[in-house]
Amino acid sequence: MKIRTAVFPVAGFGTRMLPATKAIPKEMITLVDKPLIQYAVEEAIDSGIEQIVFVTGRTKRSLEDHFDNNIELNKILWDSGRTKLYEDMKRISEMVDVIYVRQKEQLGLGHAILCAKEIIKNEPFAVILPDDIILAKEPVTAQLIRQYERTGGNVISLMKVEECYAYKYGIVQVESRLDDKLFKLSDMVEKPKDTPPSELAIIGRYILMPEVLEVLKTIKPERLGEIQLTDAIRSEAKRGNVYGFEFTGKRFDCGDKTGLLEATINIAASSSELSGELKRIISALKL
Ligand code: UTP
Repeated sequence: MKIRTAVFPVAGFGTRMLPATKAIPKEMITLVDKPLIQYAVEEAIDSGIEQIVFVTGRTKRSLEDHFDNNIELNKILWDSGRTKLYEDMKRISEMVDVIYVRQKEQLGLGHAILCAKEIIKNEPFAVILPDDIILAKEPVTAQLIRQYERTGGNVISLMKVEECYAYKYGIVQVESRLDDKLFKLSDMVEKPKDTPPSELAIIGRYILMPEVLEVLKTIKPERLGEIQLTDAIRSEAKRGNVYGFEFTGKRFDCGDKTGLLEATINIAASSSELSGELKRIISALKL
């Protein structure tokens, strides 16, 4: 079955990026001149996704406005002859129809995805966490969809991390290696305290089967009252239906200051408009 829907859970508090995230969701933080959410939506569209669901919290207004048509702004840009900007703004509002679902209480990523159940219905779907920005020739969601078409099961995105950083991630346990980049998974550990079961960490892109939603419904909130997505995927892994794919691309954790800075510099460095200026700014710093 074709992957038509992508769920974007954007209801987290984004505490690592306070005070920027006090009144706006972290997905509206910009990388150079585009909010994180737009990078992620473009990735979904370029991967063939037709329906986008934002699971939002109390700060959804700015997201809605960003993908809406701003008639006054368009008129000003058109009347003043700034046609390139005018076209850009129109393109954003025509990009995609977004469905908004409210997560009334921040009860974790698993719970956020469950909030989209009525829209997803009984189909496999993609999940995109927009604070993980991944620059890649072929969009990462498209890479995962190809693996789903091959395996017919749940596919999660993986990236190698050094052991000293494993404590920040969910780390997978591999049952078997199907090819250079594709693995069948037997288990996973969220933020391991001891030796991690592998060097492969889970990154914020998933293709999930509707059965995961059924499992999520049965999961008890953990210590902090959150329903974890990893718990549902673990239980599917035990049934032999979860694959991990080591994607090709460069990933930045933009929910964190260092990651955001690194992504900003990388995007500026690869822009013909900004790379010269970036060089000048950095060399003037005499680091
Ligand atoms: P994070 O673990 O990054 O949490 O959530 P957070 O609240 O966004 O950020 P910090 O750690 O406090 O800085 C991972 C993803 O799950 C979403 C977030 O919006 C993010 O995309 N999420 C998390 C929800 O939608 N609802 C929740 O209840 C929790």
